[in-house]
Amino acid sequence: MTSSYGLRGQHPLQGLQGLQGLQGRAAIVTGGTRGIGRAVAGQLAEAGALVCVTARDADAVRRTAEELGGVGLAGSVADPAHPRAVTELVLREFGRLDVLVNNAATNRPYGPLMAADPDEWREAFALNVEAPLRLVQCAWRTWMAEHGGAVVNVCTEGAAHVGPNVGAYGTTKAALLHLTRQLAGELAPGVRVNSVSPGLVRTEMARFVWEPGEREVAAGLPLGRIGEPEDVARAVVWLASDAAQWVTGADLLVDGGTRVRAAYASTPYAVHDRLRSGAPTDTGPGSPSGR
Ligand SMILES: NC(=O)c1ccc[n+]([C@@H]2O[C@H](COP(=O)([O-])OP(=O)(O)OC[C@H]3O[C@@H](n4cnc5c(N)ncnc54)[C@H](OP(=O)(O)O)[C@@H]3O)[C@@H](O)[C@H]2O)c1
Repeated sequence: MTSSYGLRGQHPLQGLQGLQGLQGRAAIVTGGTRGIGRAVAGQLAEAGALVCVTARDADAVRRTAEELGGVGLAGSVADPAHPRAVTELVLREFGRLDVLVNNAATNRPYGPLMAADPDEWREAFALNVEAPLRLVQCAWRTWMAEHGGAVVNVCTEGAAHVGPNVGAYGTTKAALLHLTRQLAGELAPGVRVNSVSPGLVRTEMARFVWEPGEREVAAGLPLGRIGEPEDVARAVVWLASDAAQWVTGADLLVDGGTRVRAAYASTPYAVHDRLRSGAPTDTGPGSPSGR
């Protein structure tokens, strides 16, 4: 079940439009109502793009679409009907579809793989891997094959290695990383496909890691702090823009130096300590800890 929201009007940051060739281009950002996706949607709008956000929480979608002067579609992107619905909405409202940011994801099922529930495992792949492919297929068939475009998938720094309790999440993100490179080859030269891999970022999804241990994690990072959603958004927007016109199949690490920390500090990896001792809170609609 999905519902759409639209609001036409002048964008409040209109003075900053025209940056990076994004002026007047149309973009979809999945999971665009909070965290990294919201920051990406905001920066794209700031650069003059026409933005469509998706998420399950219908109020948040409506509010965000209004704030951005764009449109939105409420529903789960893992719903097989959702990718086509959002693509049709964008083409109807904006008449084009130039940028796709596959950002929505789940970090469930959390825990050792021997305890992983098969239904939750399938849901994770449906959301983190299948939905991005379905969206690219819809965008390709309806606009990008003929007119070109840019796709940015949000992966994770953790996809390159293993960690406690995040085996399902890491496996889906490793698959998304491979999908990124495969699509980059298949869709060139018209469509560029890249990914951004964030380290620990101050969002709801990762609250269980950073809230109890931010100082400790930051102290072990070469750049001395955890990430903010805007740090990641700048990389996503750059890859979506013409500034990255000769970049495809790339994975841009935005991790404060997480992957090179062994040459910086000899302390144990604080993020893994937190993954061992904490668990994500459910932030979905209707959950006790949700909005
Ligand atoms: N935060 C980190 O430290 C970190 C690190 C590495 C990678 N990442 C990646 O960054 C991306 C964004 O994560 P975040 O940390 O910004 O998370 P977040 O703050 O929890 O935001 C997630 C967004 O996705 C939406 N969403 C969740 N499930 C959805 C579904 N089934 N269909 C449509 N929308 C859905 C949420 O809205 P609703 O709940 O209303 O649906 C929300 O807008 C994810 O791909 C994540 O794996 C995050």
